[in-house]
Amino acid sequence: MRLLLLGAPGSGKGTQAARLKDSLGVPHISTGDLLRAEVAAGSKLGLEAKEVMARGELVSDAILLGMLEDRFSRADTAGGFILDGYPRNLAQADALDKLLARIGQPMDFAVQLEVPAELLVERIAGRAKAEGRADDNPESVRKRLQVYESQTAPVIGFYRQHGQLTVVDGVGELDVVFARIIEAISPGHDVG
Ligand code: AP5
Repeated sequence: MRLLLLGAPGSGKGTQAARLKDSLGVPHISTGDLLRAEVAAGSKLGLEAKEVMARGELVSDAILLGMLEDRFSRADTAGGFILDGYPRNLAQADALDKLLARIGQPMDFAVQLEVPAELLVERIAGRAKAEGRADDNPESVRKRLQVYESQTAPVIGFYRQHGQLTVVDGVGELDVVFARIIEAISPGHDVG
């Protein structure tokens, strides 16, 4: 199964990807987690990305594509993957499409998690208290939501046009949202 999760910051991509990984037996590839690991390691890439992430802006497409190519070259992705946090703009969607075509692993589904804006802000505020993520402060959250609307939301149309999009209501108990995703990617479910 080759799956990507789309949705605004706080929509539950990371949370549901962790569950899907166990259920589907494929790796969870989160570009946010990959970047945070580089920041924590103090690598050159991490140093470049740190301030950009803290401001809630997008790290450069070239850095992200290099990171993804590297990740997809690992053997554990041969049986599929769950991608979370990429693509975040149309250029990345196009680059991903070409990369997956080149390695013979076309995307099966793009699942969009829909959650109202006020609930996104509430969830991220909850995580800020619990975890203290550097970009979960009100100013960066505002910027991340703006970036999502202006740059990432158009990616939804890209996958709709490619007949790979399935939209899932992301509001509700974790188990309920998870069950909706499983149903949405089950054989016979309409995508478009
Ligand atoms: P990234 O780590 O991808 O952050 P994000 O997209 O802002 O996503 P979040 O982690 O905030 O939300 P999520 O949808 O995963 O929700 P979660 O499951 O955590 O990216 C961070 C930064 O890295 C970017 O801003 C950018 O700078 C850079 N970056 C990453 N990818 C990039 C790319 N491709 N190009 C350029 N730059 C890139 O849930 C949030 C909270 O809600 C949690 O506390 C969770 O417990 C709770 N929650 C989840 N589901 C529910 C539910 N159903 N009910 C109640 N609470 C829930």
